[in-house]
Parts: sequence; structure tokens; C-alpha cells
Amino acid sequence: MASTVLVGTQWGDEGKGKICDLIAPEFDGVVRYQGGNNAGHTIVTNGRKYGLHQIPSGIMYPNCISVIGNGCVVNPAVVIEEIEMFEADGISTANLKISGNAHLIMPYHIALDGACEERLGTNLIGTTKRGIGPCYQHKMERIGLRVQDLLDPALFREKLDRVLAKVNPELELLYQKPTFSADEICAEYLPYGERLRPYITETGKLLNDMIDEGKSLLFEGAQATLLDIDHGTYPYVTSSNCTAGGAVTGSGVGMKNIDRVLGIMKAYITRVGSGPMPTELDYETNEDGRTLTEVGAEYGVTTGRRRRCGWFDGPIATYSARVNGLTDIALTKLDVLSSFKTIKICVAYDCDGVRYTTVPEHEGTFASAVPVFEEMPGWECDITGCRSFDDLPQAARDYVARIEEIAGARVSFVAVGPDREQTINRSWTPVR
Ligand code: GDP
Ligand code: IMO
Ligand code: MG
Repeated sequence: MASTVLVGTQWGDEGKGKICDLIAPEFDGVVRYQGGNNAGHTIVTNGRKYGLHQIPSGIMYPNCISVIGNGCVVNPAVVIEEIEMFEADGISTANLKISGNAHLIMPYHIALDGACEERLGTNLIGTTKRGIGPCYQHKMERIGLRVQDLLDPALFREKLDRVLAKVNPELELLYQKPTFSADEICAEYLPYGERLRPYITETGKLLNDMIDEGKSLLFEGAQATLLDIDHGTYPYVTSSNCTAGGAVTGSGVGMKNIDRVLGIMKAYITRVGSGPMPTELDYETNEDGRTLTEVGAEYGVTTGRRRRCGWFDGPIATYSARVNGLTDIALTKLDVLSSFKTIKICVAYDCDGVRYTTVPEHEGTFASAVPVFEEMPGWECDITGCRSFDDLPQAARDYVARIEEIAGARVSFVAVGPDREQTINRSWTPVR
């Protein structure tokens, strides 16, 4: 049966949570394969809004297995908080499975994240300060603690002593920050292990068994293509492979099992944190004087930070379609553009006299990019009630068609509001 990877195609917050929640019932399992609680995925259903950081957006459906895969980093306190939030709302978490191989975000990772950012000064990355970078750093350095270690107190302590022997001097001498006590961390973390014990599973085997039984999976990417450690705008990126390829390594499922890649693309672009953003607005407003930030309610789910906003960036769409091998696109937040008389689309960059229609590889070239804009007339009417593509005004349909042409992949969904129902299925064939 067919499995799908769902990925962010820009700088995050494209509406992955919403689309994932929408199509999750087609699948037997939803799998997070990278990232941690730096993610903030919003689900709105029946007027109730959930902001998810660690738990996959399939959790709303009792028959769907929700998996936190081996490629993720896990803050156990945050997972427990989310479990308790859902249980209190009558949403069962019995089908949540957490990989024993996922790495644990430790208190010193959060301290190191803050200290590194402070030291970078004006060159800071603008991280979410959730300890993501230092946790992945220790994973690569092979000194990380994993979820399975929570279930073996002696081994947990042994590994912790080893890593603190390195981290404490770093904090104290390099950053002049307080150090951590192994006793205190054990007292906090080992009870988390007991609480999470029923959820900790060999998820790689579970997922492959599901595939052997003919079941289908949806891989829920977090962050996005331009935040990918390899393919993003390094160094202003996160520390994992958010692109579609990460779904394979981050879950233990073979790539022959994946046949669709659905890219989530906002009808304009946003970014949180530092780094170049060619189409960033400085600032154009709509008819009633409100900005894209205000109309689109562009404030972070995780940190509450104001998101930087800009017009749709075509070279990024083209690049994302290629890097992820997109088969389909879900174009979100089209309704946010309804009050603009004229809408701009960036179709190319001029970088020191050279024209690019995709993202240039060299950091300096991208930083110098001057957007080449095309203008399209706006539709200037409310589209939040549209439920079929033909309900949309012609100008909105033309805008979608232009994006499809630039990206070179089919726009299968168009989202016209935050609610699950506010989505137009244009050409997506459900798995079942
Ligand atoms: P994610 O990180 O990709 O899951 O996206 P976020 O949840 O961080 O941000 C997307 C925001 O846009 C959330 O507040 C969603 O409720 C909202 N949203 C998603 N799709 C639409 C849409 O089509 N229209 C509007 N107006 N809001 C949307
Ligand atoms: P979702 O899944 C938007 C950004 C941070 C920062 C950079 C590195 O909701 O789309 P990190 O804490 O990961 O080391 O920060 O990445 N960032 C996100 N931006 N959406 C996200 O997640 C993000 N997760 C990280 O703002 O620029
Ligand atoms: Mg988000």
C-alpha cells in the first residue's frame, strides 16, 4: 500500500500540521522522522486548536498509530505534557509509539543552545532554544543519551557521567554558565522513563511489519527544505534532514515503500530566525493598512516570535520540488492574500548580474539575491467558504496555476482557512 512523505517546502510553518491532520485518516500510521519540540504544528478542528511539538499530527484519530521515529530528538517532559493534554481532552494516546533509538534532549542541551547563541552575538541563528542543535551534535559525536537509556538506570548514569565530564567544563570555562549535577538529572529523567515505558517501542520493526501487512504510512516532516542541514540556507538552518530523504533514515523504512511526496507550500513566504530571505517585505500593506504578518496571524507556535513575511518565492518552490522530488503540492493560506489588490510573485533572482531561477548553492550568492517580481491582480473577496476549485475567483485560480507552473508539480490541495474543513481537494486521490 502507498506511503506518503509530507514536507515543508519553504522555511517552516507552511501548515504541515493542518494538512497532515486532514489526510491522516487515509493512513494507518503517521510518523515524525526528524526534529523535536522546535516544531510547532497547528491543528484546528471543531473550533478547538492544538499546537503540537513532539507528538505526530495523526493523534486525533484512534485507529492511526502515531510514531516518533529514531531520527527525532525527544524532550520527555514535553512529550508527557502533550500526552496529558490529549488524555485530559478525551483523545487516547494508546497508539503513540516512541523509538528507543531517538535521542534525548537533556537540560544541558538547552543551556548550550542558549550559550552558543549568546556567543554568536549579532550572527546568532535565532534558534528556538529548545536544545535541538546540541542534541544532534552529541548524537553525531556518539555521546548522546537515547530514549532506551531511560529504561536502564545504571547505563543512563554511566553515559550521563561521561557526557557531563565534557559538557560541564565547556559550560563553566567556555561560556561561564552554571554546570549540571548527574544526581539531579537522574532524579528528574528516570521517572520520565517509567511514565514513557508503555510507549517506547522498536518503531523500525513496527513500521516495517505494518508495511508487510499492506498498511500505509504518512511521514510528517517538521521544519522545512530551506532549514535542512544539507539543503537549506546553512548556517541558518536546523540540525536535521527535514527534506523527504530524511523520512527513510529517520524511520527505518525502505525507500521503495514511498510513492508520493506532498510538499506544503504557503501562498507567500515566512521565516523565523536569522538568515537571508530575498522576498522579505519591508513592508507592503493591503487595502485596510494591515500587513501579511497581521492578516496571516504570523506568530510562532513554539516561541511566539513574529514571523518575517514575504511574497511567494518561485526559485524556492522550484528548488524544493527538485530536492524533495515533489509529486504533489498543498498550497496553504491562499485566503490571507484576499485583501491585496496586487500580488507579487518572485520568478527569479538577480545575483551580481547573473539570473537564477532556483536557489543558488553558494551562500554569498543567495545572500545577494535581488528578487525579480511578476505582478498578478488580486481577487479582493472572501474565499474562506470555497470548497471546490471552481468556487475560487478566476484571479485566484490563475495565481494557483502560475505557482504550479513555476514549481513544476501539481497543486493537489488548496487551503483557504485554518480549519480542517477549509480545504479544497483538487486532485489528491485518497489512499483509501
Ligand atoms: P506548520 O508548522 O507547518 O504545521 O504550521 P504552523 O501551525 O506553525 O503555522 C500555520 C498556521 O496557519 C497555523 O496557525 C494554522 O492554523 C494556520 N493555517 C493553516 N492553513 C491555513 C489556511 O489555509 N489559511 C489560514 N488563514 N490559516 C491557515
Ligand atoms: P515547524 O515544524 C519555523 C528555525 C528557527 C531557527 C532555525 C534553527 O513548525 O515548521 P533550531 O531551534 O531548530 O536549532 O533553530 O530553525 N526553526 C523553525 N522555523 N518552523 C519550525 O518548525 C522551525 N523549527 C526551527 O527559528 O531559525
Ligand atoms: Mg510551525
